[in-house]
Amino acid sequence: SDRLVDVLDGPAEVRRPRPPLAAPTMTALRERRDELRDRIMNSGAVERQRSLGKLSARQRLEALLDEGTFLEFDMYRRRPGAPGDPAAQGPHTDGVIAGFGSIEGRQVCVYAQDFSIAGGSLGEAHAAKIHKVMDLALSTGSPIIGLNDSGGARIQEGVMALNGYGGIFRRQVQASGVVPQISVVLGPCAGGAAYSPALADFTFMVRDIAKMYLTGPDVVAAVSGEQVSHEQLGGARVHGELSGVATFVSDDEQSCLEDVRYLVSMLPRNNLEQPPRLAPRGAATDSRPALAGIVPSASNKPYDMRQVIAEVVDDGAYLEVHEGWAPNVVCALARIDGDVVGLVGNQPTSSAGVLDTVASQKAARFVRFCDAFNIALVTLVDVPGFLPGTEQEHGGAIRHGAKLMYAYCEASVPRVQVIVRKAYGGAYIVMDSRSIGTDISLAWPTNEIAVMGADGAVNIIHRKQMAAADDPEALREQLVGRYKDELMHSYYAAERGLVDEVIDPAQTRAVVARSLALLRDKHRPVPQRKHGNIPL
Ligand code: HXC
Repeated sequence: SDRLVDVLDGPAEVRRPRPPLAAPTMTALRERRDELRDRIMNSGAVERQRSLGKLSARQRLEALLDEGTFLEFDMYRRRPGAPGDPAAQGPHTDGVIAGFGSIEGRQVCVYAQDFSIAGGSLGEAHAAKIHKVMDLALSTGSPIIGLNDSGGARIQEGVMALNGYGGIFRRQVQASGVVPQISVVLGPCAGGAAYSPALADFTFMVRDIAKMYLTGPDVVAAVSGEQVSHEQLGGARVHGELSGVATFVSDDEQSCLEDVRYLVSMLPRNNLEQPPRLAPRGAATDSRPALAGIVPSASNKPYDMRQVIAEVVDDGAYLEVHEGWAPNVVCALARIDGDVVGLVGNQPTSSAGVLDTVASQKAARFVRFCDAFNIALVTLVDVPGFLPGTEQEHGGAIRHGAKLMYAYCEASVPRVQVIVRKAYGGAYIVMDSRSIGTDISLAWPTNEIAVMGADGAVNIIHRKQMAAADDPEALREQLVGRYKDELMHSYYAAERGLVDEVIDPAQTRAVVARSLALLRDKHRPVPQRKHGNIPL
């Protein structure tokens, strides 16, 4: 029993009666607390970040959140030292600042990795702090925003670091479609760490400082001999234009964090809430004559669909997602008469607005986001079809096009389709046609809806007749004219109820606003199932 006492109380020679200690005063305790907090808050190497052209983690949170609203959790958390070696314990915060605050008065949960502590690498305590704020985000229905700046799994903590990442990914998937998730990449984001932004709804990257890849340039060189820079492998341009991993690319951190605030201002806090509404803007009677001048009636002449969007939405203001990736389809969040909407439009200035594998993926993911978070969809159609060719077919054009089809068919939010000009074949169907469930279908007098263009159609259905004709060209001209008159005139779909109204382009904003007002209370029960099986 003597040994036991030794173990519990230390060796006998140090077990001597201590003089009674006076309890410290409240003032002293408060001073000690303030001093410790000051030390922790100023421990991040602001200078080092600045020398890398970056803000510190705390400066980033200041720029992101409403002033004075950040409440930090787990500031004292650290990696414990080995027994008998308290000096081996890690620094406070363990390299991540976590907590909650508000953006435009609405609560969000946040974390910001601190590259100045062990390269922002993710160890056990670091991961546990992120898990805690993610759990709070889910239980309180709050958006979660992660500011990433990290060398990835903390190598010295081995499998516990990997386990920490797994816990983040699992929580992200559980939170998917429940609370909006935003990932901001403000430094390196290497290895499996890149999956966190990939699982988020929106990923921001800042030019020059943000990098994302599964394996860095050194590993690439060792495995394949390929020499590539960090920027060429996974810089903001690569992910904003080629891979589609980044939804938004910003020039600097301040403007990036301002854009995050703008995005959050248009999102509901969770899937049980409606997106925040602003006061109506009198859109229902707002005629926009400029609309009639934007779209050339000749169907092969390009124009910028963003000009149409700017006329239809409040204040001409919209936030375009994936601006640099698949520019042949435009996806944007905006407001119409104070209500948040998601706009999907074909873009005639880019590959004539054709749908291809990447455009289908981009639009499908956007439609699914809007549907999950109660954001009405407005689809502006001017599409010549799906892009033909071996490259597309071999690249899975059918599978990717099916994603967009699936996304629209599944969407239960208010849906308004506006056929601005061309709408051909499968691309007509997939761009929110009546057959796949649009609520209100409107068309401009320039609409051209058909299985295919007149020339192609005549070649197929009158091939024999033309081969036998004395003057095939004259016959072709006559047949093309007849096809256009009979099957492609601007009231063909309206005569059959597939278009509800052929509207004056100038009235587009007004009619869409009135349609959305009707649809605001739309309720479409969906059958119970575990989950669908979207073609991935
Ligand atoms: C522990 C790390 C670290 C890591 C960086 N540091 N990454 N410590 N674990 N993963 C430390 C460095 O030792 C250094 O400490 C400080 O952070 C800054 O790093 P530097 O290399 O000096 O900075 P820089 O030159 O800017 O380079 C940044 C970097 C590089 C590109 C991120 O550090 C790097 O390549 N790190 C390793 C990246 C990586 O391979 N991570 C593991 C990926 S696998 P001192 O004390 O010197 O300041 C992975 C699996 C996740 O993440 C799996 C999830 C499924």
